[in-house]
Amino acid sequence: MNIFRKAYSVGGVVLLLEFLTQFYVIAASMFTTMSRQIAEATNADVATTALQNVELFTAVHAVNGVFIIPSTILVLVGLSFGARYPWRTTALTALLLVLMAVQFALAVIGFLGVPAIGGLHGINALVMVGLGGWLTWKSWAFGRRRLPSPVAISHAEVP
Ligand code: HEM
Repeated sequence: MNIFRKAYSVGGVVLLLEFLTQFYVIAASMFTTMSRQIAEATNADVATTALQNVELFTAVHAVNGVFIIPSTILVLVGLSFGARYPWRTTALTALLLVLMAVQFALAVIGFLGVPAIGGLHGINALVMVGLGGWLTWKSWAFGRRRLPSPVAISHAEVP
C-alpha cells in the first residue's frame, strides 16, 4: 500500500511536469507564429523554418494533451485505488479526467473558430494544474509526515 502511495506521489509530479510542458510548448509555438509572420514579410527562408517549429511545438502539445496526460491521470486513479486513499481523493483524481475532456472540447471549440469560448482552455488548464498540484501535495508520501496535533488526539479520545 505504501508503494502505491509513493507511486501516486511520483505520478503526481510527472503529471505536473506534463502540464508544465503544455504551457511551455504552446507559448513557444505562439512566439514562433508571431516571428514567422514578421519573417514572412521580409525573408522566405526564415519563415519556412519558423513554420516547421510551430508544427513541432503544437504536435508536442497535441500528443501530450491527447495521449500522455490522460494516460497519466488514468494511472493515478488506479494508484489511488491501490493506495486505498479516501474515496474523495480518488474521485478528485478522476475529476482531472473530466477536466481533461472539457479541455479537449474547448480546444475543438477554438478550432471551430469560437476563440472567446476556446480561450477558456487556458483558464481550465490553470484549474487542472491547481487540482493536480493540490492532490499531489496533500497525498505526498515521501519524507516526514506531519504528526496529528495533541488537541486532535485528545478530542479523538473523548467518547
Ligand atoms: C493542462 C494543460 C493543458 C492541456 C492538458 C491541454 C490540452 C490540449 C489538447 C488535448 C488540445 C487538442 C490537441 C489536438 O487535438 O490537436 C490542445 C490544443 C491547444 N491548446 Fe492546450 N492544453 C493545455 C494548456 C494550454 C494552454 C495553457 C494554452 C494557452 C494558453 C493552450 C493552448 C492550446 C492551443 C492554441 C491549442 C490548439 C493548437 C494545438 O493543437 O496544439 N493549451 N490542448
